[in-house]
Amino acid sequence: MSESRTPEYPINPVFLQRWSPRAFNSETISDQALFSLFEAARWAPSGNNSQPWRFIYFKPDSANWQQVVELTNDNNRRWASNAGALLLLLSKTSHVRAGDTEPSPLRNHSLDAGAAWASLSLQAVHDGLITHAIGGFDREKARELLQIPEGYHIEIFIAVGKQAHRDSLPPDLHAREQPTPRKPVQEFVARDGFGFAG
Ligand SMILES: Cc1cc2nc3c(=O)[nH]c(=O)nc-3n(C[C@H](O)[C@H](O)[C@H](O)COP(=O)(O)O)c2cc1C
Repeated sequence: MSESRTPEYPINPVFLQRWSPRAFNSETISDQALFSLFEAARWAPSGNNSQPWRFIYFKPDSANWQQVVELTNDNNRRWASNAGALLLLLSKTSHVRAGDTEPSPLRNHSLDAGAAWASLSLQAVHDGLITHAIGGFDREKARELLQIPEGYHIEIFIAVGKQAHRDSLPPDLHAREQPTPRKPVQEFVARDGFGFAG
């Protein structure tokens, strides 16, 4: 596995240090630590500098924590319930451009939210925290429970916390508790035109 995590070209080590463990130690994350992550997200690039990302955060002492955890699907809930915080990432789908009075659609709202999530996850590495994105949850129920208005796309949950030993996970998750490899750069970069096999 360590071989497959060797970069082909020089990079900042933080990119390799970030991965998505499932073993969280259930210690609550302070607001101070969380807001450093949001601060990192804040500086992400976005179309027209529209900054369409929105984060709603929940902690184990939130009144609705259990209901929020139950939005995640069965498989994810087994480990996400031990996170120190759960963040729901939304993106605003329209924006009033400078000089306009009416909002226009933001074509890149999800792309921009993705950039914010990437920044947040790398800051977490720097701060000794782990993150794990969760796409497997009931979006309709989330919209209803949290009264999320139309015009906000529900992207992902992000589990944040401190890492625990993988033995704390249910046995069937032990083997998956390790960093994953990546495709070679040649497979996703082409010069001067579309040159991809798949
Ligand atoms: C948008 C998105 C949704 C994801 N949803 C889930 C999920 O529902 N459950 C899960 O266990 N992992 C989920 N993941 C984690 C990915 O499986 C993981 O990022 C990928 O396998 C690469 O591994 P790494 O993050 O450890 O480098 C998700 C990741 C992203 C970016």
